[in-house]
Amino acid sequence: MNFQLTEEHLMIRQAARDFAQELWKDVCERDANAKFPTDHVKKMGELGFLGMMVDPKYGGSGLDTISYVLAMEEISKVDASCSVIMSVNNSLVCWGLETFANEDQKQKYLTKLATGEMIGAFLLSEPEAGSDATSQRTTAEDKGDYYLLNGTKNWITNGNSAGVYLVIAQTDVEKKHRGINAFIVEKSWDGVTVGKKEDKMGIRSSDTHSIMFQDVKVPKANRIGEDGFGFKFAMKTLDGGRIGIASQALGIASGAYELALKYSKERKAFGKEISQHQAIQFKLADMATRIEAARLLCLKAAYLKDQHGDYGLASAMAKVFSSETAMWVTTEAVQVHGGYGYVREYHVERMMRDAKITQIYEGTSEVQRIVIARHILS
Ligand code: CAA
Repeated sequence: MNFQLTEEHLMIRQAARDFAQELWKDVCERDANAKFPTDHVKKMGELGFLGMMVDPKYGGSGLDTISYVLAMEEISKVDASCSVIMSVNNSLVCWGLETFANEDQKQKYLTKLATGEMIGAFLLSEPEAGSDATSQRTTAEDKGDYYLLNGTKNWITNGNSAGVYLVIAQTDVEKKHRGINAFIVEKSWDGVTVGKKEDKMGIRSSDTHSIMFQDVKVPKANRIGEDGFGFKFAMKTLDGGRIGIASQALGIASGAYELALKYSKERKAFGKEISQHQAIQFKLADMATRIEAARLLCLKAAYLKDQHGDYGLASAMAKVFSSETAMWVTTEAVQVHGGYGYVREYHVERMMRDAKITQIYEGTSEVQRIVIARHILS
């Protein structure tokens, strides 16, 4: 077993770390004003961070999943809003298309998404179908040459900024999940409406919207895979997506830990730096240990994916453990900072707010435990 990163991995991590330093300058202002990071997203595209694992022949960087985990951690250390935009585009949209779309679809859409010429969104959740993803109410009626799409999707990351949506919808209710399809839908098409922007607790600089479809004509050529493949498409894509969100959670945790460590060496109380008090040392030791465990789970899931092994169990374990680590570490980081931790300029309160979503999206902690239990019991 080799825990050494390669030269290439170290270079990619450094490039992501360098890019992330640019995010500090406006991260608080974007968080306060819920402002989308347009320029930073453009730069991520130029640096190859939006199509990291995509084959260069489709405009991607052709890197492995380990590189993706490393980059996600570094960018999430500073700004989880930028990293969720990156994660959705990489592991849900680009990976879903590269793995399951046909050549025409890849030529038409993937090349633009992998280079960042435009970004994409993944539309599974609905007002009444969050964790229970088989209960799709959005319908895609088969009309011969096209499908007629009607319904509403909720909590869509990149909802307004995306140019392309991957939409999951029910074609044949009788067939239940086997009657669900996945489609590539362009935001500019007639009948597509971007709904209200959510006023969120965290990741406030990313745009989250509801999306409405009213009699949208989706050409048959835009269905992904065979008829009825949509639910499996979503589940398989989410298996990989969870590695991205696990790495985001890891990054939020390590960002908050680094700030707490630094602060503990500067702040004095009772005649010495607070890092010299055992109460703080125990917190720092526990933070560092949990973060390392989360990192190993993320890297193991990435390694299995790169080896084309079965990574559904590993990605669910990484996601649940990393997101709970992020919540715990950020809460402790606020505690180490005391009163300063509760005010915006010290960043850790933002990280604590951002951490919470990692326990919710791409499958709640409860869903991850369902997935883990099914693997163990099967
Ligand atoms: N890979 C391949 N196939 C899978 C699969 C997987 N990981 N998981 C399930 N399936 C298949 C099953 O084999 C089964 O197929 P057959 O009937 O043909 O055998 C079918 O899918 C149905 O499976 P289940 O009976 O297990 O389905 P379920 O209704 O019990 O649901 C669940 C399982 C795990 C709870 C699932 O609904 C789920 O993952 N829910 C969470 C949804 C989610 O993660 N939403 C996130 C939205 S996207 C997002 O958040 C993006 C963002 O903005 C950041």
